[in-house]
Amino acid sequence: MLTEAIKATADQLGYISVPEKENINFAEEIVKLKKEKNAVLLAHYYQEPAIQDIADFVGDSLALSQKAAQVDADIILFAGVHFMAETAKIINPKKKVILPDFNAGCSLAEAAPAKEFKEFVEAHPDHTVITYINSSAEVKAYTDITVTSSNALKIVNSLPKEEKIIFAPDRNLGRYIMKETGRDMLLWDGACVVHEAFSMNKLLELHKEYPQAQIIAHPESEMHLLQTASFVGSTAALLKHVKEDKSDQYIVATEAGILHKMKQAVPGKTLIPAPSKEDNTCACSECAFMKMNTMQKVYNCLKYEYPEVQVTEEIRIKAAKAIQKMFDLS
Ligand code: 13P
Ligand code: SF4
Repeated sequence: MLTEAIKATADQLGYISVPEKENINFAEEIVKLKKEKNAVLLAHYYQEPAIQDIADFVGDSLALSQKAAQVDADIILFAGVHFMAETAKIINPKKKVILPDFNAGCSLAEAAPAKEFKEFVEAHPDHTVITYINSSAEVKAYTDITVTSSNALKIVNSLPKEEKIIFAPDRNLGRYIMKETGRDMLLWDGACVVHEAFSMNKLLELHKEYPQAQIIAHPESEMHLLQTASFVGSTAALLKHVKEDKSDQYIVATEAGILHKMKQAVPGKTLIPAPSKEDNTCACSECAFMKMNTMQKVYNCLKYEYPEVQVTEEIRIKAAKAIQKMFDLS
């Protein structure tokens, strides 16, 4: 275990950065540690390929939360961003939940500070509050139903047509739900920095080069991009689509990490990451938060069982209700 002093320093840095020895085979050591410590490694599709390859389960936000609820092991090592690990702790509180880098946040979760969100909710007492899982535990505590990009349409459609709804924090997912369900919702003004970074001009240029390619997109993307897409869905839905669909070429408008599983699933198909506005070098969009997790940090996190995710019991109980409602309606 770490000494208190080292812990404090690591806390300040947000992660533990020092490997124990040089030339360490992180993959082998992590697999060994998982066994020794009875730990399960859950990873999001946006994690780097090496992490996905040693994970016990790789999935989208919904599948990961459902999996986390069922974990029987002592430790959940969550290779994703903070709100995902926090969700695991909320729904499976007896487990130790650890996250390789505590600075792995999310622009959507940050867009809805708890205090402002509480005031907004209190100003609209006749509204049902639906929040995207990409939000803090505090925000979930002011929420009636949590949703993910996998189940948002189904859950909104399950509510009576006349129900007044607040939807937060993703304005793009919110607009997409409004268009698909014909509902009017009060939207919080947040966005994902990765999905808003796609360049429409570059995308159309790319499509001229690959006219047979289907554009497929995550609903966190902007409406003009979604309108050009042949298929819109969560990361898991996009993966399922390229497996089941008959086309041979796809331009994929979501974080480039998903291409790892797609390439494994359909090695014969052409998969092209949608181009982002800024990036002229790799022509892909990567989530800087998701990519904060590295094999070294996964190793250190499991070795020292640190940093650990904590949620106060008062917040946890309230947030768990909103997540449970999502499970019931999924
Ligand atoms: P899904 O995992 O629900 O597809 O969401 C993608 C995402 O941006 C996660 O932060
Ligand atoms: Fe948040 Fe966007 Fe990164 Fe997902 S891809 S964690 S929504 S910033």
